[in-house]
Amino acid sequence: MRRPLVCGNWKMHNDLRGSLSLVKSLLLRLDPVWLDKVDVAVAPVFLHLSPVGKLLEGTPILLCAQDVFWEREGAFTGEVSPYMLRDVGCSLCIVGHSERRSYFGETDEGVNRKVKALISEGITPIICVGETLEEREAGRVFDVVGSQLDGALKNVECCTGNEFVIAYEPVWAIGTGRVATPEEAQEVHSFIRSRLEAMYGGVAREVRILYGGSVKPDNFASLISQEDIDGALVGGASLKSDAFSEIVKIAALEGC
Ligand code: PGA
Repeated sequence: MRRPLVCGNWKMHNDLRGSLSLVKSLLLRLDPVWLDKVDVAVAPVFLHLSPVGKLLEGTPILLCAQDVFWEREGAFTGEVSPYMLRDVGCSLCIVGHSERRSYFGETDEGVNRKVKALISEGITPIICVGETLEEREAGRVFDVVGSQLDGALKNVECCTGNEFVIAYEPVWAIGTGRVATPEEAQEVHSFIRSRLEAMYGGVAREVRILYGGSVKPDNFASLISQEDIDGALVGGASLKSDAFSEIVKIAALEGC
């Protein structure tokens, strides 16, 4: 069975005090009973990984980075490596987020290099895929998502189902308040699972596929109850401890 994962992507929000107080408030609100059933992670900005990680020590909440560079070290001004993420306690890292693809020119090839570098450092990549509104309206959802998956996973092995996580995030649903319907999301999640099955066989049934895009406490139950939706990558609602805790609770009650 797949254990649900709920990851809060804080994006470029919070000063240090804000990040620390958000973690403290989450630690008070998250019921250990839910945490027995759900993996929970938070992804602050790079600068806050280390202090946030210190507060999370000894708790089941996982530390996640929002991006990474694929080299281990060297003359790469401004970049951070998988080894450095590991060193401050990260166990997960988001790659290929649509904001990185559209604002910073991230390509499938770059995503693939990051995925391999993370896996070899023992960090689980959360690989984001998703179509724009124009692509959806042109009937190209499966083409776009399929080729993002093929690109990201080129020469990547998958033996256990825990090597990587996929996040389906339709670009038109991110930060817009316009969530995909459970049926729209499930259709793409099931397509992703069959693509993974074609690549990796039965182990694909163990890979977690998260939904992301305007997830809120009031729309999450119907999403997580879909067969191939195994959790969420949460942006806006992860910045409020009450909303994020409620989403974790729903995953614990309704999840797979
Ligand atoms: P949102 O962001 O929940 O604010 O739509 C999701 C994401 O970008 O991961």
